[in-house]
Amino acid sequence: MGLRQRVRHRQSTLDGVLRATSILLAGKTVVTGGYGHCGRGIAERARGLGASVVATEIKATQALKAILEGHRVMPMDDAARIGDVFITATGMKDVLVGRHFDVLKDGAVICNTGHYDCEINIGDLEARAKGRRTVRPNCEEFTMKDGRRIYLLAQGRLVNLAAAEGHPSEVMDMSFANQYLALCKLAKEGKTLDKKVYQLPPELDQEIAGVKLRTMGIAIDKLSSEQVAYASDYSAGT
Ligand SMILES: NC(=O)c1ccc[n+]([C@@H]2O[C@H](COP(=O)([O-])OP(=O)(O)OC[C@H]3O[C@@H](n4cnc5c(N)ncnc54)[C@H](O)[C@@H]3O)[C@@H](O)[C@H]2O)c1
Repeated sequence: MGLRQRVRHRQSTLDGVLRATSILLAGKTVVTGGYGHCGRGIAERARGLGASVVATEIKATQALKAILEGHRVMPMDDAARIGDVFITATGMKDVLVGRHFDVLKDGAVICNTGHYDCEINIGDLEARAKGRRTVRPNCEEFTMKDGRRIYLLAQGRLVNLAAAEGHPSEVMDMSFANQYLALCKLAKEGKTLDKKVYQLPPELDQEIAGVKLRTMGIAIDKLSSEQVAYASDYSAGT
């Protein structure tokens, strides 16, 4: 599940940013708000295109992951001063707010690929702007009272869906397969289930990944019965 989010965002979010701006990412500082499945995918691909990545986080484990994967980590209050492109992917409101807009560089690009259009506080941006105009489809320029320009993409809505075409069918097929199998399980066992959230069994992911690999013509190895026995035989050591 997490891998699919990462793979999807690696491609579709940056596709949205590039379609809306046509900027060169190489040499730019890309700030990902959140280093979860989506943020991590965006960071990987932004680096691949030559950008330097700064991640902001609230979870120590995720922040450490970003550092160990070669990115910089700092609070958004600091990142706001150095970033060229900001992409929020947290699922939380107010990741970019007024005090950040006060210090953003002239020409900074801001967008969201997280849950809703509340990750960027657009009211704060509007309150600070003396003018606004659409400069390209899905790219609105806000001129601050001190003359700096901030570019908001896709009205703060999901930039990969609004400014690009969302996720390719070759990755969505696995999500839909997962949902289909979940529905099959519900149809079979629904009457006996309690009213609570259930985790889907990990075997479903294995099944879907196996089918996907087969459609790609990729084979993998299988444990022999001796290897299966060895895996649970704690008497054998190094
Ligand atoms: N655009 C799309 O097509 C699309 C697709 C899938 C998911 N999403 C959305 O993207 C969002 C992220 O999804 P995910 O799977 O990466 O979730 P995730 O939980 O793996 O990652 C979110 C990360 O954001 C961090 N975070 C939360 N609040 C923060 C804050 N204020 N500042 C900095 N970091 C903060 C969390 O610690 C977490 O590590 C969700 O809202 C999800 O619904 C969008």
